[in-house]
Amino acid sequence: MTKPLLAVIVGSNRRESINRKLAQALIKLGADKFDAKLVRIDDLPMYNQDNEGNLTAEIVRFKEEVARADGVLIVTPEHDRSIPAVMKNAVDWGARPWGKNSWAGKPGFITGTSPGAIGSALAQQHLRSVMTGLGMILLGGEAYVTFKPNLVDDQGNIGDESTRKFLQAFLDQFAFLVGRLSQPQAERSAA
Ligand SMILES: Cc1cc2nc3c(=O)[nH]c(=O)nc-3n(C[C@H](O)[C@H](O)[C@H](O)COP(=O)(O)O)c2cc1C
Repeated sequence: MTKPLLAVIVGSNRRESINRKLAQALIKLGADKFDAKLVRIDDLPMYNQDNEGNLTAEIVRFKEEVARADGVLIVTPEHDRSIPAVMKNAVDWGARPWGKNSWAGKPGFITGTSPGAIGSALAQQHLRSVMTGLGMILLGGEAYVTFKPNLVDDQGNIGDESTRKFLQAFLDQFAFLVGRLSQPQAERSAA
């Protein structure tokens, strides 16, 4: 049976991003339930409404990758107690032009990590507010992850058992939500 496809967006363009490592570990952890595609945002230009009539190939690709997905997993750090600029930039391109909102009706799961005690909670909360406004259907609960050196081990797995179980439960719930709201790719194209 075809698995639902997740568009996975990391809210950091940093080469050694701990959030990208977490995203890759989540892709691995959920591999029995989801296919996944890491969607790049580092090549998107800075949003400018003047350019909405002439979208670059990168913006078109980004919007298509989100549109094709059955669900969106966002793994984001926190910058200055809010959404990193690169993440917000991707959100804005996804939302525009008017009438071409890529987020509306998409099931979404937001998580993220930071070394701080509250594990990117404020960024996640701000992003939840934005994405809800854009019509995304978000998984409930709070998946704040405090970064520790063993969060992702050398094999790319979540190193700590209780964190792994905590995140596995979210992935299971997200698979249920996506399953309820989406028609997997193969069934959709056969319809
Ligand atoms: C501009 C900037 C602002 C930051 N603000 C916060 C913050 O508000 N809260 C927090 O927990 N960490 C903050 N950090 C630290 C990040 O959590 C840390 O750099 C983390 O590695 C970022 O995730 P990444 O590795 O995926 O890019 C900030 C880092 C930068 C560069």
